[in-house]
Amino acid sequence: MILVVGGAGYIGSHLVKELVKSEKVIILDNFSTGFRSLIDSNAILIEGNLGDEKVLSHIFSNYAIQAVMHFAANSLVGESVQNPYKYYENNVCATVTLLNTMLKYNIKNFIFSSTAATYGIPKVEFIDEDQPTSPINPYGRSKLMVENILEDFSKAYGLNYIVLRYFNAAGAHESGEIGESHNPETHLIPIILQHLLGQREKISVFGTDYATPDGTCIRDYIHVTDLAEAHIKALYALIDGKKQTGVYNLGNGKGYSVKEVIETCEKVTGKSANIEYANRRPGDPAHLIASSAKIYKELGWKAERNLEQIIESAWKWHQKMVAIHDKN
Ligand code: UFG
Repeated sequence: MILVVGGAGYIGSHLVKELVKSEKVIILDNFSTGFRSLIDSNAILIEGNLGDEKVLSHIFSNYAIQAVMHFAANSLVGESVQNPYKYYENNVCATVTLLNTMLKYNIKNFIFSSTAATYGIPKVEFIDEDQPTSPINPYGRSKLMVENILEDFSKAYGLNYIVLRYFNAAGAHESGEIGESHNPETHLIPIILQHLLGQREKISVFGTDYATPDGTCIRDYIHVTDLAEAHIKALYALIDGKKQTGVYNLGNGKGYSVKEVIETCEKVTGKSANIEYANRRPGDPAHLIASSAKIYKELGWKAERNLEQIIESAWKWHQKMVAIHDKN
């Protein structure tokens, strides 16, 4: 049985949908940012906090947990600058309690959701895992702190772990049943699609004077189902003893500017966008593109879905959300 902490969130729920095909799954979530509608009916749900030792002890003493997968983090860069306490409390302190309680029950396999934000401002076009980590905001720092803690816990207590550094997760499950839901929404692709559905008046492009070919920021967008598949490969690498530790980037290896993403959304939906060119958003690096060569070499994973497929799946999901909203 696998414990998925944060299984009601955007990425956690997509992982659960794939994982229930081969494993029994238990979800721990406090619904602070997750949604009940994203919970897979094949999984057991326990409502609670990841830093609550009592709830964790209950789970670890009642279920034979082989591994823990941790998706329950706060992940908004801007919010982390405004309210760093929230990020260090939840992303670091609560995670340490989770790890410590796991070890008390001799549970030693851990998959951790980390981020490209650990790299800060990259010095190279394609970022591989050997690039220095130098985060520029509390969110990225909170994730890097846990990465360092994992390294120390592994050496001292024999914890096995794999860290997955996501680039820009996007898209929705092919079933159309689950997709990206955040409140408030700050991510580019959902914002564009909500605008094209008439839910927002315009799209603001944050910064047009970056050192990129069209002046807007370049990101590496990765389909959430590709992410889920990478987690499953990482999970079995730990469970089967193929790996004791590992740090891997998860991206497509292809960068798209904000303008290119808007154009692709227009192409996929057949609608045209009302664009406002605005100031830069603080904390945005000009470009973030992954090299995912290491995980391909070591675990045989690579992204299978391109930007158009990401947007097509997200479009299907957002149209469905509007239909549900209109019915209610
Ligand atoms: N952007 C706009 N207008 C918007 C929203 C976003 O121009 O309305 C731009 C941003 O400035 C950025 C790009 O679109 O240049 C992508 O922005 P997102 O907010 O979609 O994603 P981020 O790159 O800021 O962040 C995401 C995750 C973080 C993670 C980071 C790592 O949300 O948690 O990827 O790459 F740290």
